Amino acid sequence: MTRGLYAGSFDPMTCGHEDMIVRAANLCDELVVGIIENPSKKPMFTADERKVMIEKVCSGIPNVKVDCFSGLLADYVNENGFSMVIRGLRSNTDFEYELSMAQINARLYRDNVETVFLMTDPHYSFISSSMAKEVFTLGGSIEGLVPDEILKTMKNKCR
Ligand code: PNS
Repeated sequence: MTRGLYAGSFDPMTCGHEDMIVRAANLCDELVVGIIENPSKKPMFTADERKVMIEKVCSGIPNVKVDCFSGLLADYVNENGFSMVIRGLRSNTDFEYELSMAQINARLYRDNVETVFLMTDPHYSFISSSMAKEVFTLGGSIEGLVPDEILKTMKNKCR
């Protein structure tokens, strides 16, 4: 059984993330969306809130599970028997960062784990959680940048 991990902050989940999850789920028997809990950051949503939101968006994909983790990604991978870690690439800038992260992680994985890169659909290549958050916080429209369910929750939170 192939277990894949798609990890990130997802604060909030964007349409780009959703597209990645759908495509990554086709590559493995089980895909876990791993939400990082980073105590040094002040997120818009707690990890548990993000988990509930992502579960709703992914409810139609039977082989997707959502989990939260903290600490080193490689420890989480080693402890949970993942054989691939899926990352999305939007640009050259992503590539520089992702290459070094994949190479450091490769030294830390206990078993044979591959980092698999999927190119972002061009419709979503300009979207990031931080930009979506900034536009939303300043009153701009982020319709089509984040899934409808996420937008609804963001509006409720800020009401
Ligand atoms: O949402 P992001 O910013 O793309 O997620 C990046 C993430 C969470 C995958 C990355 O920051 C990470 O793996 N953090 C866990 C800490 C870690 O393992 N650091 C060493 C690799 S650089």
